[in-house]
Amino acid sequence: MSVKKTLRVLLPLIILVLIIVNFNHIKYFFQSKITGYEYNTIETFHNEKIYKTVREYDYSKTLEEILDTKSFEKKYLRDYLVINYLDKENFLDNVSKLLTLGYTGNDINGIYEKLDEKNILLLLDNSYLKDIVKIINLNYFDSTKLERYLKYNNDKISYEDLVTYVNIGLDNEYYTDVTKVDKQDDLLVLVNKYNSLNSDYVPSDLEAIGTKYNKGWNNKMRHEAKVAFEEMCEGALKDGITIYSGSAYRSYSYQKTLYNNYVASNGFKKAETFSARAGYSEHQTGLATDVMNAKGNYISKDDKEYTWLNNNSYKYGFILRYPEGKEDITGYMFEEWHFRFLGKEVAKEVYDSKLTFDEYIARKS
Ligand code: DAL
Ligand code: ZN
Repeated sequence: MSVKKTLRVLLPLIILVLIIVNFNHIKYFFQSKITGYEYNTIETFHNEKIYKTVREYDYSKTLEEILDTKSFEKKYLRDYLVINYLDKENFLDNVSKLLTLGYTGNDINGIYEKLDEKNILLLLDNSYLKDIVKIINLNYFDSTKLERYLKYNNDKISYEDLVTYVNIGLDNEYYTDVTKVDKQDDLLVLVNKYNSLNSDYVPSDLEAIGTKYNKGWNNKMRHEAKVAFEEMCEGALKDGITIYSGSAYRSYSYQKTLYNNYVASNGFKKAETFSARAGYSEHQTGLATDVMNAKGNYISKDDKEYTWLNNNSYKYGFILRYPEGKEDITGYMFEEWHFRFLGKEVAKEVYDSKLTFDEYIARKS
């Protein structure tokens, strides 16, 4: 056999052997070209038996990078694959910790989109917060309160309520962490156990309610509220319902006396459920009134006056301020008689929302 002939037979054989031996190398080379991953990464995919899953997704730098660390865990593969890689300090470390806490890859994208480094560290220091992305995307989510949301985290309430309640301040005891109201004359002023008026605040446009709808005292309200209240009384009358204002504007000092008297006669705990401390009463705004029925008693749930008001007061700009079932939110017992003026538009919004005014304000961004 000539050399030429021998080569002709041997060469293909040698090539074949080489191909078989290096088949994986060639395969990885092409897979690397197709997927965008490094040759070594492709090799790891095959060693870890994850190549098939990886191929279902686009190239993931997060996966490629995390494979180089000790933190890679196969069970989080699909998470790594969807996490948008960010060139930030501790990114991979934080990703691993967040996954361990229970957050998903998509959660992590949402978290990095909205939260700064400081808040991400807060997440790492606390236990898993369900619906985190929904929470941080609420327009009334307040990033300065993240730690409070995390601490108040509670399986029994919806994520909307979690944020709402913390925004109200309910994660603190009543009368703690109090804010001084800055726009005391605003018709939408919120006064409750976390928001107080100055002791010297007196609305400048108080007017006496007409005697026809004014029981006993010279009850006053702010101009707009007074006009609306009289209109409401007229409207009620047309439907055969008689209502009066029993108590409307109350000064700081009068509220103080009233509250102290209630504490003396009912005890502190009970009094707290139906009487505001001075500075914390809506009555001081001149925008609230306690309503009486035709008999001259404060209205109660079974009165036809109550039913009428419940169905119609919002049309005149008034809402029931302390509804039944919302005692833990308002901080007061169900007060069938206490109505607050908000103006027609907002009163309708609050009425339709079935929220208390406290919740309504807490959901304003
Ligand atoms: N009764 C209401 C809560 C007040 O005292 O202002
Ligand atoms: Zn009242």
